[in-house]
Amino acid sequence: MASVTYEHVTKRYSADVTAIRDLSLQVRDTEFMVLVGPSGCGKSTALRMLAGLEEITAGEIRIGDRVVNDIPARERDIAMVFQSYALYPHMSVYDNMAFGLKMRGTPKAQIEQKVRSAARMLGLEQLLNRKPRQLSGGQRQRVALGRAIVRNPQVFLLDEPLSNLDAQLRVETRINLQRLHRDLGATFIYVTHDQVEAMTMGDRIAVLRDGVLQQVASPRDIYDHPANMYVAGFIGSPKMNFIPVSIQGSTVRASGFQLELPRPPGIEKGTLGIRPEDLTEKPRDGMPTVDLKVEVLEVLGSDQYLYGKVGGDDLTARVDPQLKVFVGDTVKLALNADRIHLFDETEKAVL
Ligand SMILES: Nc1ncnc2c1ncn2[C@@H]1O[C@H](COP(=O)(O)OP(=O)(O)OP(=O)(O)O)[C@@H](O)[C@H]1O
Ligand SMILES: [Mg+2]
Repeated sequence: MASVTYEHVTKRYSADVTAIRDLSLQVRDTEFMVLVGPSGCGKSTALRMLAGLEEITAGEIRIGDRVVNDIPARERDIAMVFQSYALYPHMSVYDNMAFGLKMRGTPKAQIEQKVRSAARMLGLEQLLNRKPRQLSGGQRQRVALGRAIVRNPQVFLLDEPLSNLDAQLRVETRINLQRLHRDLGATFIYVTHDQVEAMTMGDRIAVLRDGVLQQVASPRDIYDHPANMYVAGFIGSPKMNFIPVSIQGSTVRASGFQLELPRPPGIEKGTLGIRPEDLTEKPRDGMPTVDLKVEVLEVLGSDQYLYGKVGGDDLTARVDPQLKVFVGDTVKLALNADRIHLFDETEKAVL
């Protein structure tokens, strides 16, 4: 059984670089936890401390009940797939995948069975005799993944393992990883800057910004109830619309429209958050409406995105792809007021 606990963990590389600040996070046994955030926010650092590859400046990391701060990497029963999948260049794909097991004295037949099964899962069966330099970036990344799979650890750490795969292979591998997680019954901690990966794979998502944890929640909760504007803007595509508003009692005024809240939020200024799909071309009774002057449109087959202006503010709407709209049109859209968000001047969600 392997839960993972970060308790008030800080990592300072130097006086002016603090990569992780006071991180407290609990990953449950067998959970699929995704750490997400933009480049440089400290995701790899968080994993490397857990793997034992980086000293912890302050705080405590536990695997199960065991404090691992001073336990060497090889005794942590963790397998990490690195962002830069360091393979042994002189070894074949097969030997790269088998190496860890050989070092542990695993019987040859068992190694063969595990390597072949992982190779099948990852579509590497035809490549087992090649050397890493004879592989594409995506193929190398899959070998790195295979090397972790065959070790069957309690905790898998995956640092952007899909970043070098093409779009189709990324979706396939994403689904395979979820199967793998279910089949192995291991704890997964998965790092990505891609919010789609986070939303689709995570049991829960932890959003990091500049080394500071912003929110931990299930994909649905984080999407429906982002704790602040940063999380709201990071999760979801196209991005949530942010519109500056003034508030009097329960009346919210933007430059191009106004709406009534069920009760006064208790602030006078703030930012309204509207997801593009919460604007609809099919109004129901009582829904506030906005007039969107369309500047750009994107038809994606299953979706249509309208980009334009409401009053002086930019707004993006996701509408029915069959709706006939042209650039320059003004489209009346209804706002699903039950799903709006409101942020105060510190960018914290108040609604
Ligand atoms: N060995 C190091 N020495 C000094 N600073 C470092 C070191 N490793 C990382 N950093 C700094 O720590 C911060 C966090 O880096 P980290 O690699 O954890 O980010 P990341 O979220 O994994 O980014 P990416 O998505 O680009 O991989 C960055 O500002 C980075 O420059
Ligand atoms: Mg990284």
